[in-house]
Amino acid sequence: MNKSELLEFLDEMWMDYLLLNPEAHQIHQLFSERNPEVVNDHIALRTFDLPAVNLQRIAQPFINAGYQCGGEYHFPVKNLYAQHFQHDDPELPKVFISQLLTKSLNEENLDLVNDLISHIDINSLKSPGFCYSGRHWPLSYNQYKQLLQQSEYAAWVAAFGFRPNHFTILVNRLSSHKSIEEVNQFLQEQGFELNDAGGLVKGGPDEYLAQSSTRANKVQVSFSDQSAEIPSCYYEFALRYPLADGHLYQGFVAASADKIFESTDTR
Ligand code: NI
Repeated sequence: MNKSELLEFLDEMWMDYLLLNPEAHQIHQLFSERNPEVVNDHIALRTFDLPAVNLQRIAQPFINAGYQCGGEYHFPVKNLYAQHFQHDDPELPKVFISQLLTKSLNEENLDLVNDLISHIDINSLKSPGFCYSGRHWPLSYNQYKQLLQQSEYAAWVAAFGFRPNHFTILVNRLSSHKSIEEVNQFLQEQGFELNDAGGLVKGGPDEYLAQSSTRANKVQVSFSDQSAEIPSCYYEFALRYPLADGHLYQGFVAASADKIFESTDTR
């Protein structure tokens, strides 16, 4: 992929994300009206660690486009492992890819997840657009709830398939709002609900990264036997702090992301 193909690819991911989270479009508009530009810090993708669809598979089109792994993260409580990928061009968003360690699932859920993955057509697996190709399998509402009992994350991937989970506004590049707190207050005044698990702001100067996010938008999903309203995607806001060398920290903080994952919890 050359740069213009990559930008088109990222734009297609954004369009797909807006289908699940139209609220992000409104928020993006609100900031666009108040700023010369709105910069996307990162896109987050979710998957299972099964060989056909694991993190490395999802990362491949980005690696082919010049991205490199910039760090790895462990989330022992949520049984997740993640890496972030970044491009030499600092204007391009980072890509944060997490995978569920499926050995943490009970036998029933592991069998279910293996069965879901077996429905994926080999040609779509090879397509660069696989990471926003959606759900490839039938899923009943009861199967969704069965997964939900053990892992919110597994249930989310089962219900939505492969799609961006969130995009992230880089607060450093806003001229309208200088801190995460100002962004949060503005969004709340505009009527948006924020994720308050672990406080509104996750992280801070000590971690070189402060983040907040909206509560995931609820959408109607068609299951094989009925439709139901479930949490889909959220919008994230990140403020990065400079390291001793003056460059902004480009990594992520496992302890904060742990709580950010809860933005899609059903509660
Ligand atoms: Ni994120």
